[in-house]
Amino acid sequence: MTRRITFPHLILNHALPWLLLLLLGSDNAESRNEDHQTYIIHMDHSHKPSAFLTHESWHLSILKSASYPADRNNMLLYSYNHVIQGFSARLTPSQLSEIEKSPAHLATYPESFGKLFTTHSPNFLGLKPNSGLWPSARYGQGVIVGIIDTGIWPESESFHDKGMPPVPRRWNGRCENGTAFSPFVCNRKLIGARSFSKGLQAAGINVSKEYDFDSARDFFGHGTHTSSTAAGNHVEGVSHFGYAKGTARGIAPRAHVAMYKVLWATDTEESAASDVLAGMDQAIADGVDIMSLSLGFDQTPYFNDVIAIASLSAIENGIVVVCAAGNDGFPRSIHNGAPWITTVGAGTLDRSFHATVTLDNGLTFKGISYFPESVYITDAPLYYGKNDVNKSICHLGSLNPDEVTGKVVFCDNSNRIDTYSQMEEVDRAGAYAAIFLTDTPDIDSDEYYIPSLILPTSAGTSIRQYVTGKNKSKVKSMRFILTELGTKPAPHVASFSSRGPDPISPGILKPDIVAPGVDVLAAVAPNIPFIEIGNYELVTDYALFSGTSMAAPHVAGVAALLKAIHREWSPAAIRSAIMTTAYPVNIAENEIGGVPATPLDFGAGHIDPNKAMDPGLIYDADFQDYVEFLCGLGYDEKQMKAVIRRNQWNCSQESTDLNYPSFAAVFTNETTAKNFSRVVKNVGAEDSIYHAVLEFPAGMNIRIEPSTLKFTQKYQLLDFALSVEIDRESPRVSYGYLKWIDQYNHTVSSPVVAIKT
Ligand SMILES: *[C@@H]1O[C@H](CO)[C@@H](O)[C@H](O)[C@H]1NC(C)=O
Ligand SMILES: *[C@@H]1O[C@H](CO)[C@@H](O)[C@H](O)[C@H]1NC(C)=O
Ligand SMILES: *[C@@H]1O[C@H](CO)[C@@H](O)[C@H](O)[C@H]1NC(C)=O
Ligand SMILES: *[C@@H]1O[C@H](CO)[C@@H](O)[C@H](O)[C@H]1NC(C)=O
Ligand SMILES: *[C@@H]1O[C@H](CO)[C@@H](O)[C@H](O)[C@H]1NC(C)=O
Ligand SMILES: *[C@@H]1O[C@H](CO)[C@@H](O)[C@H](O)[C@H]1NC(C)=O
Ligand SMILES: *[C@@H]1O[C@H](CO)[C@@H](O)[C@H](O)[C@H]1NC(C)=O
Ligand SMILES: *[C@@H]1O[C@H](CO)[C@@H](O)[C@H](O)[C@H]1NC(C)=O
Repeated sequence: MTRRITFPHLILNHALPWLLLLLLGSDNAESRNEDHQTYIIHMDHSHKPSAFLTHESWHLSILKSASYPADRNNMLLYSYNHVIQGFSARLTPSQLSEIEKSPAHLATYPESFGKLFTTHSPNFLGLKPNSGLWPSARYGQGVIVGIIDTGIWPESESFHDKGMPPVPRRWNGRCENGTAFSPFVCNRKLIGARSFSKGLQAAGINVSKEYDFDSARDFFGHGTHTSSTAAGNHVEGVSHFGYAKGTARGIAPRAHVAMYKVLWATDTEESAASDVLAGMDQAIADGVDIMSLSLGFDQTPYFNDVIAIASLSAIENGIVVVCAAGNDGFPRSIHNGAPWITTVGAGTLDRSFHATVTLDNGLTFKGISYFPESVYITDAPLYYGKNDVNKSICHLGSLNPDEVTGKVVFCDNSNRIDTYSQMEEVDRAGAYAAIFLTDTPDIDSDEYYIPSLILPTSAGTSIRQYVTGKNKSKVKSMRFILTELGTKPAPHVASFSSRGPDPISPGILKPDIVAPGVDVLAAVAPNIPFIEIGNYELVTDYALFSGTSMAAPHVAGVAALLKAIHREWSPAAIRSAIMTTAYPVNIAENEIGGVPATPLDFGAGHIDPNKAMDPGLIYDADFQDYVEFLCGLGYDEKQMKAVIRRNQWNCSQESTDLNYPSFAAVFTNETTAKNFSRVVKNVGAEDSIYHAVLEFPAGMNIRIEPSTLKFTQKYQLLDFALSVEIDRESPRVSYGYLKWIDQYNHTVSSPVVAIKT
């Protein structure tokens, strides 16, 4: 079979404009408009005089009356219709205070900037062509997945439309013309592509400098990667420079993709809140079914959080919103944790990438490597600076090029120098190849500048013995590009995956779910080199990326499959199905290795798509439930209006105890017991009878009432109460499970976590 070359093809070295930019910083044009700043203004749309036919004309007149300059059309950035009531504009402080005097004014947010959640698949998830979720959902046929990201590389084979159904008639989106992006590149797979940059441009950032395209075309490859992960078509024989060779396909390969580019290759890799809002606003108007966001802003209460506010509007429109949890890796670092969002952490895959080294004495070692060329090294001298301890650890400046040229350098880790710095040093000194020792590799796949591998420290003793022995030490051979499947145990929670609790609402367990986010192979933009090897730059059109950015689109893909089967399910129902069928993850990786994981690391667990298709019971929630939750947080009137975008609401049942598929009891030093109430909907057989099975450790107690749920009808609702108690001496975090199990063996599992603050 013929196909496009994905193996490295070499292009001549030239300066990387965007890398240079990272180093030099950009000339900040902010100074030109020192008085003006971008604000997102929430207005009460019920105040719009009927003389104005559109909200936009009203917004323009508000700006005009605030002594706005003649070029006002340029200064109004966006009028929003769905995500918030209001607009974004460049304003001086006096203009802003004019507008704030209006009785229609609700809230003002200064522009803020967010970032991508990438640190630098399907087989593992059990998706099979012949049984389970894939055939039942017809691979997500007819569902539209909107991706809010860095754009898309439309020519990627992952977006060819072979086998795709026609564009759904309900679709209102389109493909915009722009730099290097013709509307004709869209097809039955890629059905929408738009870009939003007014916010960044207003902040003085020129998005059309030579390092990005002023259109929906992807420059970074990030949006291409996330889109193809969620809904890319089948592409056979792809790999990351030979690693992870196989078929690339999205989780929902028959779903349609719409790209909303809001992230640009600026020197800071940032996105403006006003642009993100505009992208989400458009996605709602266009009619996406699922929205996936792999980006985030600083943690802030929901009434200040643009993604939370825009997502609630999307949820109200029946759109499932899936967001990455962030890559901060430490407790209380959750992003995008609003209870209407499906918040996704990252897990590892059961796959590892290797190289081997055989010493002249016959000892062979296997280690981690992503070196992208299949070089075969034979009979090279092994170098170890044994007379000076610092020579052996390859710290910066320690290697003498005259001594190491043509040799394999053995870099001990006795001084715990990070592998990346050691890699830089052996590369600088011009060594032939290298062997690193560490148990906690912290180097990305695009940082293997020379042929090298990472061995566990346990291998150090015998190599040290050999290299310090009497005989001249030599490497007999080194081989690269070895992929191993079925690595046990998998999955782990990735070290970088943001951990709960979410400081904004510790009583809602976050993340909700963990999905693959380490070394995910998917399409990228082949315009920029992936790695520089000597004088060559290597490009690829499929690459391994890691991040919660990569995990979120897996869940978006599963949500698309579930939506294809259960059109009528709410976003909360789809999330519930995903959460209650997940399986626990045992290990959470951190900088020293692995520790036992808790639901603060993995939420309800690792996603299990085939099970999510038939969850048995659903914990549902609708817009009114979220309103009552917000009332329960004690929001004032303006804050409520800003989040829910309306002037009237009913808080008679206010409660922060949402009908959530997980339980998080936050205890102060004075409380040791908490009650929850829940309602479950039977989506299985009408005569299902569920028994509660409770699992909890010593020092914790969980009670349930009633402990049997007897359904007589499909979609019947039954409620129960659960109470959690802990001993005063119990650890800071303890957790157990509530499992409802019926006679058909549906297991509806919820983590129950007690957190002492
Ligand atoms: C499409 O965009 C390109 C680049 O911005 C421009 O040169 C071209 O005139 C546009 N075509 C149409 C039909 O608008
Ligand atoms: C932005 O950069 C491009 C390419 O360098 C240049 O052609 C264009 O004039 C710049 N635009 C502004 C507004 O500075
Ligand atoms: C070895 O490196 C350490 C840390 O970089 C430094 O403090 C020490 O002085 C060095 N020793 C020698 C002998 O160079
Ligand atoms: C050194 O090399 C010789 C000849 O290859 C071999 O017989 C001997 O065992 C080696 N010694 C050690 C300590 O490896
Ligand atoms: C508010 O909700 C409660 C309970 O759902 C209902 O009884 C009440 O009538 C509602 N009030 C209004 C004004 O809609
Ligand atoms: C609980 O903690 C608060 C603040 O740290 C302290 O003032 C209070 O005395 C503590 N109560 C008990 C019962 O320990
Ligand atoms: C929880 O519910 C039980 C039984 O209804 C009640 O006795 C107890 O006081 C409640 N505890 C809390 C902390 O509300
Ligand atoms: C019931 O489900 C459990 C866990 O989901 C599984 O281990 C077991 O094999 C199932 N039993 C039957 C009879 O399907």
